[in-house]
Amino acid sequence: MRMNSSAVELEEIAPALEPAQVERDAFAEEVRRGLGRARKELPCKFFYDAQGSRLFDRICDLDEYYLTRTETSILLRYSGEMADALGPRCTLIEYGSGSSLKTRILLDRAHDLAAYVPIDISGAHLQTAARQLRLEYPGLAVLPVCADYTRPFDLPGRCAAGRRCVFFPGSTIGNFDPEAAREFLRSIRAHCGSDGALLIGVDLKKDPDLLHAAYNDREGVTAQFNLNLLARINRELDGGFNLSQFAHYAFYHPVRGRIEMHLISLREQDAWAAGGRFHFREGEAIFTESSYKYTPGEFENLAADSGYRVERRWTDPRRWFSLQLLRVI
Ligand code: AVJ
Repeated sequence: MRMNSSAVELEEIAPALEPAQVERDAFAEEVRRGLGRARKELPCKFFYDAQGSRLFDRICDLDEYYLTRTETSILLRYSGEMADALGPRCTLIEYGSGSSLKTRILLDRAHDLAAYVPIDISGAHLQTAARQLRLEYPGLAVLPVCADYTRPFDLPGRCAAGRRCVFFPGSTIGNFDPEAAREFLRSIRAHCGSDGALLIGVDLKKDPDLLHAAYNDREGVTAQFNLNLLARINRELDGGFNLSQFAHYAFYHPVRGRIEMHLISLREQDAWAAGGRFHFREGEAIFTESSYKYTPGEFENLAADSGYRVERRWTDPRRWFSLQLLRVI
């Protein structure tokens, strides 16, 4: 008897790992792996600790960083058409909802949503945001899900019935390499179901000088945002990175169609973190982020490869940014 029940009991009494500890372990693992490679790299998802999120908010306000401002202007102008395209009694699911600032523009127009499902990796932030939304939209069912949306996760059972639309603004899709983007779009397809849709923000190809400026602002906020990755390693993983010996370097690669961000070692040096030691040659790079830009045609091909057709595309007068409604085929 005892033997049979012990596994269950053990499971029940084993102290659950703190989510913060799980997150820290995953961060340590990826830092050791990324910095252990011949071409050093760090995943861009680790930019967004509290400090990084504050810096990103400042980036969004920069003159040079046109993305957020332009996307918001498109939403303000066309949210009525977008709400119509979602159709009645739709469940709106947002990947990486944060404070749901852009979503409010849609929520103001989409009067008869079945539910709003904000998904975010930061549980505390998500709860605060959900509470605030329930106050502002009393008739709306707000069903938050705390998850890393780049990994498999389940939607609340209540979402199963009815039409679903996934909202993925901000051109975050630009962080994915083309093959990863296709895989990710396919995984979203499973969440939106057969008559579902995906409303996605996509940054467009434009004059490379404008792109360059957007990631090399005069105030150096983007540089601080990039360097915060090393500061975060120092804070959370007992790291020994000398921040003054690394420099932000970002450029547009016109053949790959992407901005690349790197941190460049200004001299030969050693740094340590998460129990590992890492050697840097002078001029050696840590690749920290890709931000792909698309022509409408290129994105249409990517969508088609992933099982969608582009049903509507909204853009600004200068055609710098787009919101695209993808329908599952
Ligand atoms: C949040 C991924 C859309 O790629 O433009 C801003 C992140 N990096 N400045 C982008 C970012 C440098 C941003 N995304």
